[in-house]
Amino acid sequence: MCGIVGYTGQRKALPILLDSLKRLEYRGYDSAGVAIVGSELKVVKDKGFIANLEAQLPAIEGTTGLAHTRWATHGAPSKVNAHPHVDCSGRLAIAHNGIIENFMEIRERMEKEGHVFASQTDTESLVHLVESYYDGNLETAVRSALREVRGSFAIAAVHADEPGRIVGARNESPLVIGVGPDENFLASDVPALLKHTDKVLYILDKEIVVLTASGVAISDLEGRTVSREPERITWTLEDAEKGGFEHFMLKEIFEQPAAIHETLLGRIANLDVNGFFAEGFTSVKLVACGTSYHAALVGKYILEEIAQIPASAELASEYRYAHGPSERPLVILLSQSGETADTLGAMREAKRRGCKTLGICNVVGSSLAREVDKTIYTRAGLEIGVAATKTFVTQLVALYLIALRGGLDRGTLGYEEADGLKDQLRSLPRAVQAVLNRSEEIERLAEKYRDAKDMFYIGRHVNYPVAMEGALKLKEISYVHAEAYAAGELKHGPLALLTPATPVVAIAVRDHTYEKMRSNIGEVVARGSPVLAIASEGDREIVKFVDDVLAVPELPGIFNPAPVTVAMQLFAYHLARTRQCPIDKPRNLAKSVTVE
Ligand code: AGP
Ligand code: GLU
Repeated sequence: MCGIVGYTGQRKALPILLDSLKRLEYRGYDSAGVAIVGSELKVVKDKGFIANLEAQLPAIEGTTGLAHTRWATHGAPSKVNAHPHVDCSGRLAIAHNGIIENFMEIRERMEKEGHVFASQTDTESLVHLVESYYDGNLETAVRSALREVRGSFAIAAVHADEPGRIVGARNESPLVIGVGPDENFLASDVPALLKHTDKVLYILDKEIVVLTASGVAISDLEGRTVSREPERITWTLEDAEKGGFEHFMLKEIFEQPAAIHETLLGRIANLDVNGFFAEGFTSVKLVACGTSYHAALVGKYILEEIAQIPASAELASEYRYAHGPSERPLVILLSQSGETADTLGAMREAKRRGCKTLGICNVVGSSLAREVDKTIYTRAGLEIGVAATKTFVTQLVALYLIALRGGLDRGTLGYEEADGLKDQLRSLPRAVQAVLNRSEEIERLAEKYRDAKDMFYIGRHVNYPVAMEGALKLKEISYVHAEAYAAGELKHGPLALLTPATPVVAIAVRDHTYEKMRSNIGEVVARGSPVLAIASEGDREIVKFVDDVLAVPELPGIFNPAPVTVAMQLFAYHLARTRQCPIDKPRNLAKSVTVE
């Protein structure tokens, strides 16, 4: 996944492009580059962060240009593979987000025709293909080239023979246009545009857009004009900034009580959540990736316990290629970004199998939200930190709402019981706030464990996937190796790895598995491993046999995942901070992964 931006107007393009590009750095930071069209085309690029590029940029005149921040898929993260890529004449430049699947075939053909390639990227084959069609009209050359391309792309192209013009196109990668007076913008997502305009136009799959200072013209790959009115965005730029916190991740962790409140707003009283249950589904399949997959796993317990509906969770990348049985469950797809390629692929596969699809998604207007039958937005607000935090917790909240609605519709949940559960749900922001209030205590604990090389996370029942989420948070931001196990599984193998050098985080809140958890903790203690227990407030027993206790408010079992996860998010955050890790931009990762 990469970020692309484009500008054409009356102002100098370079500073505008750099500023907008920085807002997309969460999409990748392997390299950065700009192409500016003045009397000729100037391209500057380098490996690494945008700041590195900025430090060496000469002043470049020109009021039209494009820029790119890369997350490599084809070709190493290097200067030569950085975008924008240019053609043989050095007059055409393209920035690309996505993957050209038939790039090899195109490359071989182009090389036979005499084109000289500079990089190992898939993108460069598209550049030479456009060049081969170019006869003075960039739009028609791009259209002809794209007809031959398989794969996903959002592109922006400029040509020195047509200054003042940017040609964009999209298929399965996001592209949005910002409309201004006497200037127009293009970007991978809205925050990159907000400083300049709140009027946006979403480009859809297989569409081409031509931007000049005075106009935006959209057409399809066949050249038919598409008319679409701009939409107005209501978020502010401040929403995208850190608001006084050291990292976006910490800001987003602290936003969780408010985010949960937003997810519940206007929905909880009547349980108005676009439910499908009334339509008679007999089972649910939850499909997602990464942290969203952990929410899916928790969702299985929530749906089975509250709505008594059989549910299972599957990784999107596996579901896509599985030969599923012929039953048609409701397929719930969870994705913060709504742009995760594996999840979109799974959604399309679910539709192909004839299943109804429900999206739980954070980004309004994302590809997932547009293609599923119905969407429940989590309304968590922008999440910039690569590690998902508030979007996970709000996904859980959406699942509780769906389960309550489903239970009532199916007659498996009584109204009185539902009212009790609703009260618990309403109290979740308070429970999460209570954990946030312990941030300093958690920081001290994190400092104690900062030198660990391997850690284990264990939990039972609904806290097993919660342990998986805790371990993922630690891995991705602190680079400490962490494994999660269902606590009962330790003795079936992994116990062999436990030594005094392998701390264990044990989720031992008071629920129906508490006694069993205590036995499992005993097994760990016997191997000399230090134990940090996440336990219910007021548990005076557990302190006697573990090294450290992190207390969370006592809740009915099924509601524990939110506060427990928040405690583990803070633990991972503080541990990563004491190890001086780049928390918002962990190495090798990107915020949303738009490739398979
Ligand atoms: C979470 O911290 C990760 N960065 C990652 O696992 C993420 O949850 C996954 O890539 C799915 O993204 P999505 O929710 O936007 O689909
Ligand atoms: N495939 C292109 C490259 O590797 C773009 C990558 C992406 O968008 O993820 O340079």
